[in-house]
Amino acid sequence: MTVRPPLPPCRGPLTAHLFPHLQAAPHHLPPLPGTDEDVLSGDDFQLALYCCYELHYQGFADVDDRWEWEPSLLAARRQLEERFERRLVDEVGPLDEVVDVEVGLRAVIDAGSGPSLSSYLRDDGTLEQLREFAAHRSAYQLKEADPHTWAIPRLRDGAKAALVEIQADEYGGGVEAQMHSTLFATTMDLLGLDCGYGTYLDLLPGPTLATTNLVSLFGLHRRWRGALVGHLAVFEMTSVQPMSRYAAALGRHGLDAEATRFYDVHVAIDGHHEVVASKQLAGGLAAAEPELSGDILFGALALMEIEGRFARHLLGAWEAGRTSLRSPLPSAGAGERDPGPWA
Ligand SMILES: [Fe+2]
Ligand SMILES: [Fe+2]
Repeated sequence: MTVRPPLPPCRGPLTAHLFPHLQAAPHHLPPLPGTDEDVLSGDDFQLALYCCYELHYQGFADVDDRWEWEPSLLAARRQLEERFERRLVDEVGPLDEVVDVEVGLRAVIDAGSGPSLSSYLRDDGTLEQLREFAAHRSAYQLKEADPHTWAIPRLRDGAKAALVEIQADEYGGGVEAQMHSTLFATTMDLLGLDCGYGTYLDLLPGPTLATTNLVSLFGLHRRWRGALVGHLAVFEMTSVQPMSRYAAALGRHGLDAEATRFYDVHVAIDGHHEVVASKQLAGGLAAAEPELSGDILFGALALMEIEGRFARHLLGAWEAGRTSLRSPLPSAGAGERDPGPWA
C-alpha cells in the first residue's frame, strides 16, 4: 500500500496561505502574499515551492490529486519559479560563449570552490551528523532519478538513448531491490532513521529543499531540458569520489556493507555514467540542438551553486555546534514536534 505523508506544518506567510487551501477541495487559489525572504535559502519559500512540485511526484495524503493541474495553483507556482529562476541567473551570472559543452562542464566542476561535505563526514563527522545528512538527502534520494526521467520524452536519438541507459541503472535495471531509492531507504533504516517517503520534510531547511526544487524546476519544464541535462551530467561527473567518502564515513562508524551499498553502487557505476552523461547525453544534445549549449552549462552552474550553499549550511551549523536540520532528529519514542506559530 502506498503511504503518502500529510502536508507538513506551515512555516511562514507563503505556506500559511497555501496549505489550508490545498487541504480543501480544489478551488481558485487567491494570490500568494508577498515575502522578502531570501529565495535560495528561505525555509518558507522553498517549502511552498517544494509542496507545489510534490503534487507531480507522490502527492500528499491530505491534498486532493486534482490540485496538480489547478490553473490558479500553477499560476502561483509560476510566480515562485520566476523568483527562483531570477536569483539563480543573478548568482550564476552571464555565460561566456560555449564552444565545447564537455570542456565547459569540466571547467564548471573544476571552478567549484565550495567546502567538501563528504571529506568532512569521512574524516570528522559524528554518527548523528551522518544521520542528519541522510535525512537531508532523503528529499531527493527516496525519489532518486525521477526528476531527470522527465527529460526522456523531450530528447531524441542518441541523447535520449544515453539518458535511458543511465536511468535504467538508477532504477536498478527494473529490479526493485536494486533501485537506488530502495538502496537509500535501506541505508536510512540501518542508520536508525524512518525511511518512509516524506517523513522528514518538516525538518528540512530551505537550502536542502532548494537542491530538489532545482531539479524539479528543470525537469518539469521542457524549455529547461538543456539545464536538466547539464544538471545530470555534473551529478554523474562529481559522484564517484564523494560517494566513496560517504561509504568510508559509514564504515568508520561500524556500519556494514548493506548500509554502504547505496554509496558503493554509485562508486562502481558512476565512472561509466560520467562518460555517458558528458559525451552521449550532454554532447549529443549540444550537437543536435546547439542553441541549448548555454542552458546545459547553466544547469551545471546552478547545481554547483545550490549544492555549495547546501554544504555550507550543514558545515556551518555543525561548526557552530547545532543541528543542521530545522530541529534535531526525533529520538525513538519522542512526541510530535511543536507545530510553531504559523500552524
Ligand atoms: Fe543513483
Ligand atoms: Fe549515476
